[in-house]
Amino acid sequence: MFLSEDLTTQSGTVALVPQTVSAVDLPVIVTGGIADAQGVSSVIALGAAGAQAGTAYMLCPEAKTSAVHRKILSDVAVHHAAVTNLFYGRPARGIVNRVMQELGLLSDLPPVIPFASTAIGPLRAGSESIGKGDFTPLWAGLNVSCCQEIFGGKAHPAFGF
Ligand SMILES: Cc1cc2nc3c(=O)[nH]c(=O)nc-3n(C[C@H](O)[C@H](O)[C@H](O)COP(=O)(O)O)c2cc1C
Repeated sequence: MFLSEDLTTQSGTVALVPQTVSAVDLPVIVTGGIADAQGVSSVIALGAAGAQAGTAYMLCPEAKTSAVHRKILSDVAVHHAAVTNLFYGRPARGIVNRVMQELGLLSDLPPVIPFASTAIGPLRAGSESIGKGDFTPLWAGLNVSCCQEIFGGKAHPAFGF
């Protein structure tokens, strides 16, 4: 979140896309939570010119996803990402981990951006050194369970292209 840190300003895709398409005179590319061909079709139906996917590709070998992040994304029990300010100093979405559970998702504790990531750095490094992501920002979208390890330019089965 950049323009505001007020979570009440967040809008769902179904409401946001048609309003944006009406308000601007530019092609609108929609992203966030799109993880398969149905997701692409639905935003096109809402007036988008295109769709973009991020999280769906995070297990691909081409992605610079860290080892600890890959391990947690591959865990079939992980299906939950939430908005937190603990890692960045501003709200951003990541897989729920120990620090988010113990301190609460939104807290007055983190220093302002860009100092929050430095503050949590030593805990993060210690945890990662033993292969854990308890204090790591595990950035991910709402469709965490959609990630697939697809090699070398092959089509993503969920998208069909
Ligand atoms: C590893 C990762 C890093 C990200 N970093 C940023 C970032 O620095 N700035 C930002 O605005 N969004 C960031 N995002 C959010 C992406 O913009 C978001 O994932 C994108 O809208 C695609 O949505 P999707 O991941 O649900 O497909 C990041 C997402 C991931 C998964």
